[in-house]
Amino acid sequence: MPNAEKLRSAARLQYKRAVLWSHARRGDLVCRLMLHEHLADPYPLYEGIRAEGPVYRSRAGVQAVTAHELCGQVLRDSAFGRRNEDAGTAEPAADGPPAAADAPAGGGNASFLDGEVADHMRWRRLVAPAFRTRKIAEYRHRTEEVAHRLLDAALDRGGDFDLVTDFASPLPITVISELLGITDVDVDRFAHYGLVTGRAIDGVRSVRQATEFREAAGELDAMFTALVRRRRDEPGDDLVSDLLRPQGDERLPEQEIIGTCQLLLTAGFETTTNLVSNAVLRLLSDREQWEALVADPKLAPAVAEESLRYDPPVQYSIRVVRDTLHLGGVTLPSGTVLMLVLGAANRDPDVFPDPHRFDITRPDAGQHLAFLSGAHYCVGAPLARMEADVALSVLAERLPELRRAGRLRRRPTAALRGLLNLPVSSGR
Ligand code: HEM
Repeated sequence: MPNAEKLRSAARLQYKRAVLWSHARRGDLVCRLMLHEHLADPYPLYEGIRAEGPVYRSRAGVQAVTAHELCGQVLRDSAFGRRNEDAGTAEPAADGPPAAADAPAGGGNASFLDGEVADHMRWRRLVAPAFRTRKIAEYRHRTEEVAHRLLDAALDRGGDFDLVTDFASPLPITVISELLGITDVDVDRFAHYGLVTGRAIDGVRSVRQATEFREAAGELDAMFTALVRRRRDEPGDDLVSDLLRPQGDERLPEQEIIGTCQLLLTAGFETTTNLVSNAVLRLLSDREQWEALVADPKLAPAVAEESLRYDPPVQYSIRVVRDTLHLGGVTLPSGTVLMLVLGAANRDPDVFPDPHRFDITRPDAGQHLAFLSGAHYCVGAPLARMEADVALSVLAERLPELRRAGRLRRRPTAALRGLLNLPVSSGR
Protein backbone atom coordinates (compact mmCIF):
# COMPACT_ATOMS: atom_id res chain seq x y z
CA MET A 1 0.00 0.00 0.00
CA PRO A 2 1.48 3.44 -0.90
CA ASN A 3 2.47 5.60 2.09
CA ALA A 4 -0.17 8.30 1.63
CA GLU A 5 -2.90 5.68 1.44
CA LYS A 6 -1.48 3.95 4.51
CA LEU A 7 -1.63 7.22 6.46
CA ARG A 8 -5.22 7.88 5.37
CA SER A 9 -6.18 4.36 6.30
CA ALA A 10 -4.49 4.65 9.71
CA ALA A 11 -6.27 7.94 10.39
CA ARG A 12 -9.64 6.45 9.38
CA LEU A 13 -9.16 3.43 11.64
CA GLN A 14 -8.05 5.62 14.52
CA TYR A 15 -11.08 7.84 14.09
CA LYS A 16 -13.43 4.87 14.04
CA ARG A 17 -11.84 3.44 17.15
CA ALA A 18 -12.26 6.81 18.88
CA VAL A 19 -15.95 6.78 17.93
CA LEU A 20 -16.39 3.27 19.34
CA TRP A 21 -14.60 4.36 22.49
CA SER A 22 -16.79 7.41 22.88
CA HIS A 23 -20.00 5.34 22.51
CA ALA A 24 -18.62 2.77 24.95
CA ARG A 25 -17.96 5.47 27.54
CA ARG A 26 -21.57 6.57 27.17
CA GLY A 27 -22.70 3.06 28.04
CA ASP A 28 -23.05 1.31 24.68
CA LEU A 29 -22.60 -2.35 25.58
CA VAL A 30 -21.83 -3.63 22.06
CA CYS A 31 -19.10 -0.98 21.67
CA ARG A 32 -17.61 -2.15 24.96
CA LEU A 33 -17.64 -5.70 23.65
CA MET A 34 -15.97 -4.66 20.40
CA LEU A 35 -13.25 -2.82 22.31
CA HIS A 36 -12.46 -6.12 24.07
CA GLU A 37 -13.19 -4.70 27.50
CA HIS A 38 -14.74 -8.01 28.55
CA LEU A 39 -12.50 -10.66 27.05
CA ALA A 40 -12.04 -12.44 30.37
CA ASP A 41 -15.77 -12.83 30.94
CA PRO A 42 -18.27 -11.33 28.47
CA TYR A 43 -21.28 -13.11 30.00
CA PRO A 44 -22.30 -10.41 32.51
CA LEU A 45 -22.19 -7.91 29.64
CA TYR A 46 -24.50 -10.17 27.59
CA GLU A 47 -26.91 -10.20 30.52
CA GLY A 48 -26.83 -6.39 30.44
CA ILE A 49 -27.79 -6.48 26.74
CA ARG A 50 -30.53 -9.08 27.43
CA ALA A 51 -31.98 -6.87 30.17
CA GLU A 52 -32.50 -4.05 27.65
CA GLY A 53 -35.02 -6.07 25.60
CA PRO A 54 -35.18 -8.47 22.66
CA VAL A 55 -33.37 -6.22 20.17
CA TYR A 56 -30.62 -3.94 21.52
CA ARG A 57 -29.82 -0.97 19.31
CA SER A 58 -26.11 -0.17 19.43
CA ARG A 59 -24.55 3.08 18.21
CA ALA A 60 -21.99 0.84 16.48
CA GLY A 61 -24.56 0.30 13.74
CA VAL A 62 -25.74 -3.17 14.75
CA GLN A 63 -28.71 -4.49 16.71
CA ALA A 64 -27.86 -7.25 19.15
CA VAL A 65 -30.18 -10.22 19.73
CA THR A 66 -29.63 -12.44 22.77
CA ALA A 67 -32.76 -14.65 23.05
CA HIS A 68 -32.32 -18.25 21.93
CA GLU A 69 -35.71 -18.34 20.21
CA LEU A 70 -35.18 -15.11 18.25
CA CYS A 71 -31.64 -16.07 17.20
CA GLY A 72 -32.94 -19.43 15.96
CA GLN A 73 -35.81 -17.73 14.14
CA VAL A 74 -33.43 -15.35 12.32
CA LEU A 75 -31.02 -18.14 11.40
CA ARG A 76 -33.75 -20.28 9.88
CA ASP A 77 -35.40 -17.47 7.93
CA SER A 78 -34.23 -16.60 4.41
CA ALA A 79 -35.41 -13.02 4.99
CA PHE A 80 -31.99 -12.51 6.59
CA GLY A 81 -28.78 -12.67 4.55
CA ARG A 82 -25.23 -13.33 5.66
CA ARG A 83 -23.99 -10.01 4.39
CA ASN A 84 -25.08 -6.65 3.17
CA GLU A 85 -25.84 -7.38 -0.46
CA ASP A 86 -25.19 -3.80 -1.53
CA ALA A 87 -21.84 -3.59 0.21
CA GLY A 88 -20.91 -7.27 0.27
CA THR A 89 -17.17 -7.86 0.44
CA ALA A 90 -14.85 -10.70 1.34
CA GLU A 91 -12.62 -8.24 3.19
CA PRO A 92 -13.28 -7.85 6.89
CA ALA A 93 -15.05 -4.68 7.98
CA ALA A 94 -12.85 -1.86 9.19
CA ASP A 95 -15.24 -0.26 11.63
CA GLY A 96 -15.86 -2.32 14.70
CA PRO A 97 -18.65 -4.88 14.42
CA PRO A 98 -18.64 -6.28 10.91
CA ALA A 99 -21.22 -5.09 8.43
CA ALA A 100 -20.70 -8.40 6.65
CA ALA A 101 -20.58 -11.85 8.11
CA ASP A 102 -17.57 -14.07 7.68
CA ALA A 103 -17.65 -17.74 8.53
CA PRO A 104 -15.73 -18.38 11.74
CA ALA A 105 -12.11 -17.59 11.17
CA GLY A 106 -12.85 -17.87 7.48
CA GLY A 107 -11.74 -14.79 5.65
CA GLY A 108 -10.65 -15.15 2.07
CA ASN A 109 -12.72 -16.16 -0.87
CA ALA A 110 -15.96 -17.68 0.42
CA SER A 111 -18.49 -15.83 -1.73
CA PHE A 112 -20.32 -19.10 -2.50
CA LEU A 113 -21.74 -18.90 1.05
CA ASP A 114 -23.45 -15.62 0.32
CA GLY A 115 -24.84 -15.84 -3.18
CA GLU A 116 -28.09 -17.36 -4.39
CA VAL A 117 -29.68 -19.93 -2.08
CA ALA A 118 -29.50 -22.57 -4.85
CA ASP A 119 -25.74 -22.02 -5.31
CA HIS A 120 -25.15 -22.29 -1.60
CA MET A 121 -27.19 -25.52 -1.41
CA ARG A 122 -25.26 -26.96 -4.37
CA TRP A 123 -21.98 -26.08 -2.68
CA ARG A 124 -23.09 -27.78 0.57
CA ARG A 125 -24.20 -30.88 -1.32
CA LEU A 126 -20.77 -31.20 -2.87
CA VAL A 127 -18.84 -30.60 0.36
CA ALA A 128 -21.06 -32.56 2.77
CA PRO A 129 -19.85 -36.09 1.81
CA ALA A 130 -16.45 -35.31 3.37
CA PHE A 131 -18.16 -34.98 6.76
CA ARG A 132 -20.50 -37.99 6.70
CA THR A 133 -20.44 -40.43 9.63
CA ARG A 134 -18.44 -43.07 7.75
CA LYS A 135 -15.75 -40.55 6.79
CA ILE A 136 -15.53 -39.18 10.33
CA ALA A 137 -15.07 -42.74 11.63
CA GLU A 138 -12.17 -43.11 9.15
CA TYR A 139 -10.52 -39.89 10.39
CA ARG A 140 -10.94 -40.88 14.03
CA HIS A 141 -8.13 -43.39 14.09
CA ARG A 142 -5.66 -40.88 12.66
CA THR A 143 -6.87 -38.20 15.10
CA GLU A 144 -6.15 -40.56 18.01
CA GLU A 145 -2.65 -41.22 16.69
CA VAL A 146 -1.94 -37.51 16.37
CA ALA A 147 -3.31 -36.80 19.88
CA HIS A 148 -1.05 -39.46 21.43
CA ARG A 149 1.98 -38.32 19.44
CA LEU A 150 1.48 -34.71 20.57
CA LEU A 151 1.14 -35.74 24.22
CA ASP A 152 4.22 -37.99 23.97
CA ALA A 153 6.23 -35.08 22.58
CA ALA A 154 4.94 -32.66 25.25
CA LEU A 155 5.72 -35.12 28.07
CA ASP A 156 9.17 -35.90 26.65
CA ARG A 157 10.00 -32.24 27.12
CA GLY A 158 9.05 -32.43 30.83
CA GLY A 159 5.88 -32.70 32.90
CA ASP A 160 4.69 -29.16 32.19
CA PHE A 161 3.44 -28.05 28.82
CA ASP A 162 1.12 -25.58 27.13
CA LEU A 163 -2.28 -27.14 26.53
CA VAL A 164 -3.00 -24.80 23.60
CA THR A 165 0.26 -24.56 21.66
CA ASP A 166 1.42 -28.14 22.35
CA PHE A 167 -1.89 -29.92 21.98
CA ALA A 168 -5.21 -28.16 21.28
CA SER A 169 -3.85 -26.11 18.37
CA PRO A 170 -1.60 -28.61 16.49
CA LEU A 171 -4.19 -31.40 16.77
CA PRO A 172 -6.93 -29.93 14.53
CA ILE A 173 -4.35 -28.18 12.31
CA THR A 174 -2.73 -31.55 11.57
CA VAL A 175 -6.06 -33.32 11.07
CA ILE A 176 -7.59 -30.79 8.66
CA SER A 177 -4.30 -30.34 6.77
CA GLU A 178 -4.00 -34.09 6.25
CA LEU A 179 -7.62 -34.25 5.22
CA LEU A 180 -6.97 -31.61 2.58
CA GLY A 181 -3.84 -33.43 1.45
CA ILE A 182 -1.36 -30.73 2.49
CA THR A 183 1.96 -32.51 2.88
CA ASP A 184 4.28 -29.80 4.20
CA VAL A 185 2.26 -28.61 7.22
CA ASP A 186 3.82 -25.65 9.02
CA VAL A 187 1.81 -25.72 12.26
CA ASP A 188 3.07 -22.34 13.50
CA ARG A 189 2.35 -20.63 10.18
CA PHE A 190 -1.14 -22.12 10.03
CA ALA A 191 -1.81 -21.12 13.64
CA HIS A 192 -0.82 -17.58 12.61
CA TYR A 193 -3.32 -17.65 9.71
CA GLY A 194 -6.02 -18.76 12.14
CA LEU A 195 -5.20 -15.97 14.55
CA VAL A 196 -5.09 -13.27 11.87
CA THR A 197 -8.31 -14.28 10.10
CA GLY A 198 -10.12 -14.90 13.39
CA ARG A 199 -9.17 -11.49 14.78
CA ALA A 200 -10.38 -9.77 11.61
CA ILE A 201 -13.97 -10.91 12.23
CA ASP A 202 -14.31 -8.18 14.88
CA GLY A 203 -13.25 -5.63 12.28
CA VAL A 204 -9.78 -4.44 11.34
CA ARG A 205 -8.33 -1.95 13.84
CA SER A 206 -4.92 -1.06 12.43
CA VAL A 207 -3.05 -0.86 9.16
CA ARG A 208 -0.75 -3.60 10.43
CA GLN A 209 -3.71 -5.88 11.03
CA ALA A 210 -5.08 -5.14 7.53
CA THR A 211 -1.68 -5.93 6.01
CA GLU A 212 -1.38 -9.18 7.98
CA PHE A 213 -4.86 -10.21 6.87
CA ARG A 214 -4.12 -9.51 3.22
CA GLU A 215 -0.80 -11.34 3.39
CA ALA A 216 -2.38 -14.38 5.06
CA ALA A 217 -5.21 -14.47 2.50
CA GLY A 218 -2.67 -14.16 -0.35
CA GLU A 219 -0.45 -16.95 1.01
CA LEU A 220 -3.43 -19.26 1.51
CA ASP A 221 -4.69 -18.51 -1.98
CA ALA A 222 -1.29 -19.30 -3.53
CA MET A 223 -0.91 -22.50 -1.48
CA PHE A 224 -4.34 -23.85 -2.43
CA THR A 225 -4.14 -22.79 -6.07
CA ALA A 226 -0.97 -24.87 -6.37
CA LEU A 227 -2.50 -27.77 -4.42
CA VAL A 228 -5.71 -27.86 -6.47
CA ARG A 229 -3.78 -27.82 -9.74
CA ARG A 230 -1.47 -30.61 -8.52
CA ARG A 231 -4.43 -32.76 -7.50
CA ARG A 232 -6.14 -32.15 -10.82
CA ASP A 233 -3.11 -33.78 -12.50
CA GLU A 234 -2.45 -36.41 -9.82
CA PRO A 235 -5.59 -37.20 -7.81
CA GLY A 236 -4.99 -38.67 -4.36
CA ASP A 237 -6.99 -39.95 -1.41
CA ASP A 238 -7.85 -36.52 0.01
CA LEU A 239 -10.63 -33.99 0.21
CA VAL A 240 -9.31 -31.76 -2.58
CA SER A 241 -9.28 -34.72 -4.98
CA ASP A 242 -12.83 -35.57 -3.84
CA LEU A 243 -13.96 -31.99 -4.46
CA LEU A 244 -12.44 -32.07 -7.94
CA ARG A 245 -14.40 -35.21 -8.88
CA PRO A 246 -17.79 -34.43 -10.47
CA GLN A 247 -20.83 -35.78 -8.61
CA GLY A 248 -23.40 -36.65 -11.26
CA ASP A 249 -23.80 -33.52 -13.37
CA GLU A 250 -22.43 -31.25 -10.67
CA ARG A 251 -18.89 -30.08 -10.15
CA LEU A 252 -17.33 -27.17 -8.31
CA PRO A 253 -15.46 -24.55 -10.36
CA GLU A 254 -11.74 -24.30 -9.50
CA GLN A 255 -12.07 -20.92 -7.81
CA GLU A 256 -14.76 -22.32 -5.49
CA ILE A 257 -12.60 -25.33 -4.63
CA ILE A 258 -9.73 -23.00 -3.71
CA GLY A 259 -12.09 -20.85 -1.61
CA THR A 260 -13.55 -23.96 0.02
CA CYS A 261 -10.09 -25.20 0.98
CA GLN A 262 -9.23 -21.86 2.56
CA LEU A 263 -12.50 -21.85 4.42
CA LEU A 264 -12.17 -25.44 5.64
CA LEU A 265 -8.61 -24.85 6.80
CA THR A 266 -9.21 -21.65 8.73
CA ALA A 267 -12.75 -22.47 9.97
CA GLY A 268 -11.67 -26.02 10.65
CA PHE A 269 -9.03 -25.59 13.29
CA GLU A 270 -9.22 -22.25 15.11
CA THR A 271 -12.70 -23.06 16.41
CA THR A 272 -11.85 -26.64 17.38
CA THR A 273 -8.71 -25.48 19.20
CA ASN A 274 -10.92 -23.11 21.15
CA LEU A 275 -13.48 -25.79 21.94
CA VAL A 276 -10.84 -28.11 23.41
CA SER A 277 -9.06 -25.31 25.32
CA ASN A 278 -12.29 -23.83 26.70
CA ALA A 279 -13.48 -27.27 27.82
CA VAL A 280 -10.18 -28.14 29.55
CA LEU A 281 -9.99 -24.75 31.24
CA ARG A 282 -13.47 -25.19 32.63
CA LEU A 283 -12.87 -28.78 33.77
CA LEU A 284 -9.63 -27.88 35.53
CA SER A 285 -11.43 -25.08 37.35
CA ASP A 286 -14.14 -27.51 38.42
CA ARG A 287 -12.21 -30.50 39.69
CA GLU A 288 -15.27 -32.60 40.42
CA GLN A 289 -16.29 -32.59 36.76
CA TRP A 290 -12.72 -33.32 35.64
CA GLU A 291 -12.67 -36.32 38.06
CA ALA A 292 -15.96 -37.50 36.57
CA LEU A 293 -14.42 -37.45 33.08
CA VAL A 294 -11.29 -39.24 34.34
CA ALA A 295 -13.50 -41.93 35.93
CA ASP A 296 -15.45 -42.33 32.68
CA PRO A 297 -13.76 -40.91 29.55
CA LYS A 298 -16.86 -41.90 27.59
CA LEU A 299 -18.35 -38.71 29.01
CA ALA A 300 -16.12 -36.72 26.63
CA PRO A 301 -18.89 -36.05 24.04
CA ALA A 302 -21.16 -34.74 26.83
CA VAL A 303 -18.34 -32.50 28.08
CA ALA A 304 -17.81 -31.15 24.56
CA GLU A 305 -21.53 -30.47 24.15
CA GLU A 306 -21.82 -28.61 27.47
CA SER A 307 -18.69 -26.64 26.68
CA LEU A 308 -20.15 -25.68 23.28
CA ARG A 309 -23.17 -24.37 25.17
CA TYR A 310 -21.40 -22.76 28.10
CA ASP A 311 -18.44 -21.15 26.34
CA PRO A 312 -18.94 -21.38 22.56
CA PRO A 313 -15.89 -20.79 20.33
CA VAL A 314 -17.95 -18.55 18.02
CA GLN A 315 -19.63 -15.90 20.16
CA TYR A 316 -21.65 -14.05 17.59
CA SER A 317 -22.82 -14.28 14.01
CA ILE A 318 -23.95 -11.41 11.78
CA ARG A 319 -27.09 -11.35 9.67
CA VAL A 320 -28.53 -8.57 7.51
CA VAL A 321 -32.24 -7.85 7.00
CA ARG A 322 -33.12 -8.23 3.30
CA ASP A 323 -36.49 -6.41 3.33
CA THR A 324 -38.06 -4.40 6.13
CA LEU A 325 -39.63 -6.71 8.73
CA HIS A 326 -40.62 -7.00 12.39
CA LEU A 327 -38.63 -8.93 14.98
CA GLY A 328 -39.30 -9.12 18.71
CA GLY A 329 -41.81 -6.29 18.38
CA VAL A 330 -39.29 -4.00 16.67
CA THR A 331 -39.37 -2.81 13.04
CA LEU A 332 -36.09 -3.49 11.28
CA PRO A 333 -35.57 -1.66 7.97
CA SER A 334 -33.89 -3.39 5.05
CA GLY A 335 -30.10 -3.39 5.52
CA THR A 336 -30.26 -3.56 9.34
CA VAL A 337 -27.28 -5.50 10.64
CA LEU A 338 -28.09 -7.99 13.41
CA MET A 339 -25.52 -9.35 15.80
CA LEU A 340 -26.81 -12.74 16.99
CA VAL A 341 -25.05 -13.24 20.30
CA LEU A 342 -24.68 -17.02 20.39
CA GLY A 343 -22.85 -16.87 23.73
CA ALA A 344 -25.93 -15.21 25.23
CA ALA A 345 -28.50 -17.42 23.45
CA ASN A 346 -26.72 -20.46 24.89
CA ARG A 347 -27.32 -19.08 28.37
CA ASP A 348 -30.92 -18.09 27.84
CA PRO A 349 -32.76 -18.99 31.07
CA ASP A 350 -35.95 -19.68 29.07
CA VAL A 351 -34.21 -22.68 27.50
CA PHE A 352 -31.46 -23.76 29.90
CA PRO A 353 -32.27 -23.93 33.61
CA ASP A 354 -29.51 -22.45 35.80
CA PRO A 355 -27.74 -21.37 32.58
CA HIS A 356 -24.51 -20.05 34.12
CA ARG A 357 -23.70 -23.42 35.67
CA PHE A 358 -21.31 -25.68 33.76
CA ASP A 359 -22.83 -29.13 34.13
CA ILE A 360 -21.63 -32.06 32.03
CA THR A 361 -24.75 -34.03 32.95
CA ARG A 362 -27.10 -31.38 31.55
CA PRO A 363 -29.61 -33.31 29.41
CA ASP A 364 -30.47 -30.53 26.94
CA ALA A 365 -27.00 -29.04 26.32
CA GLY A 366 -27.27 -30.07 22.66
CA GLN A 367 -29.87 -27.36 22.05
CA HIS A 368 -27.05 -24.80 21.95
CA LEU A 369 -26.52 -22.64 18.87
CA ALA A 370 -22.71 -22.97 18.85
CA PHE A 371 -22.82 -24.50 15.36
CA LEU A 372 -25.73 -22.23 14.42
CA SER A 373 -29.01 -23.45 12.97
CA GLY A 374 -30.62 -23.31 9.54
CA ALA A 375 -29.02 -23.13 6.11
CA HIS A 376 -25.53 -22.22 7.37
CA TYR A 377 -25.37 -24.87 10.11
CA CYS A 378 -21.67 -25.70 10.51
CA VAL A 379 -20.59 -28.21 7.87
CA GLY A 380 -17.67 -29.37 10.01
CA ALA A 381 -19.66 -30.01 13.21
CA PRO A 382 -19.26 -33.83 13.07
CA LEU A 383 -15.49 -33.47 12.60
CA ALA A 384 -15.20 -30.93 15.42
CA ARG A 385 -17.23 -33.16 17.76
CA MET A 386 -15.07 -36.19 16.96
CA GLU A 387 -11.84 -34.24 17.47
CA ALA A 388 -13.03 -32.83 20.79
CA ASP A 389 -14.13 -36.30 21.91
CA VAL A 390 -10.70 -37.75 21.08
CA ALA A 391 -8.77 -34.84 22.61
CA LEU A 392 -10.71 -34.84 25.89
CA SER A 393 -10.78 -38.61 26.36
CA VAL A 394 -7.06 -39.01 25.58
CA LEU A 395 -6.21 -36.24 28.06
CA ALA A 396 -8.41 -37.76 30.78
CA GLU A 397 -7.08 -41.29 30.23
CA ARG A 398 -3.41 -40.37 30.11
CA LEU A 399 -3.18 -37.39 32.47
CA PRO A 400 -5.63 -37.81 35.37
CA GLU A 401 -3.52 -35.46 37.53
CA LEU A 402 -3.61 -32.64 34.95
CA ARG A 403 -3.68 -29.18 36.60
CA ARG A 404 -3.31 -25.55 35.65
CA ALA A 405 0.22 -24.30 36.11
CA GLY A 406 0.32 -20.61 35.27
CA ARG A 407 -1.44 -17.62 33.83
CA LEU A 408 -3.54 -18.09 30.74
CA ARG A 409 -3.72 -15.67 27.82
CA ARG A 410 -6.88 -15.12 25.82
CA ARG A 411 -7.28 -14.62 22.08
CA PRO A 412 -7.75 -10.89 21.39
CA THR A 413 -11.16 -11.20 19.73
CA ALA A 414 -14.76 -10.85 20.83
CA ALA A 415 -16.09 -12.98 17.96
CA LEU A 416 -14.04 -16.08 18.74
CA ARG A 417 -13.64 -17.16 22.33
CA GLY A 418 -10.55 -19.12 23.18
CA LEU A 419 -7.06 -19.14 24.58
CA LEU A 420 -3.61 -18.34 23.25
CA ASN A 421 -1.93 -20.17 26.12
CA LEU A 422 -2.91 -22.44 28.98
CA PRO A 423 0.10 -23.68 30.95
CA VAL A 424 -0.61 -27.04 32.60
CA SER A 425 1.21 -29.61 34.67
CA SER A 426 0.73 -33.28 33.93
CA GLY A 427 1.54 -34.23 37.54
CA ARG A 428 4.39 -36.49 36.35
C1 HEM B 1 -15.96 -26.35 17.60
C2 HEM B 1 -15.71 -26.14 16.33
C3 HEM B 1 -16.56 -25.31 15.42
C4 HEM B 1 -17.50 -24.32 15.69
C5 HEM B 1 -17.91 -23.80 17.05
C6 HEM B 1 -18.02 -23.86 14.42
C7 HEM B 1 -19.00 -22.90 14.28
C8 HEM B 1 -19.55 -22.51 13.09
C9 HEM B 1 -20.55 -21.49 12.95
C10 HEM B 1 -21.15 -20.67 14.10
C11 HEM B 1 -20.82 -21.36 11.62
C12 HEM B 1 -21.81 -20.39 10.96
C13 HEM B 1 -21.15 -19.08 10.57
C14 HEM B 1 -22.15 -18.07 10.08
O1 HEM B 1 -22.87 -18.33 9.09
O2 HEM B 1 -22.24 -16.99 10.68
C15 HEM B 1 -20.02 -22.32 10.93
C16 HEM B 1 -20.04 -22.50 9.58
C17 HEM B 1 -19.12 -23.28 8.93
N1 HEM B 1 -18.19 -24.11 9.49
FE1 HEM B 1 -17.87 -24.44 11.44
N2 HEM B 1 -17.41 -24.56 13.41
C18 HEM B 1 -16.52 -25.45 13.97
C19 HEM B 1 -15.72 -26.35 13.30
C20 HEM B 1 -15.66 -26.48 11.97
C21 HEM B 1 -14.84 -27.42 11.26
C22 HEM B 1 -13.95 -28.49 11.92
C23 HEM B 1 -15.03 -27.20 9.93
C24 HEM B 1 -14.45 -27.88 8.73
C25 HEM B 1 -13.40 -28.62 8.70
C26 HEM B 1 -15.99 -26.12 9.81
C27 HEM B 1 -16.45 -25.61 8.62
C28 HEM B 1 -17.48 -24.71 8.50
C29 HEM B 1 -18.00 -24.26 7.21
C30 HEM B 1 -17.49 -24.69 5.85
C31 HEM B 1 -19.03 -23.36 7.49
C32 HEM B 1 -19.91 -22.61 6.48
C33 HEM B 1 -21.22 -23.35 6.34
C34 HEM B 1 -22.24 -22.59 5.50
O3 HEM B 1 -22.24 -21.36 5.54
O4 HEM B 1 -23.05 -23.25 4.84
N3 HEM B 1 -16.36 -25.71 11.06
N4 HEM B 1 -19.24 -23.01 11.83
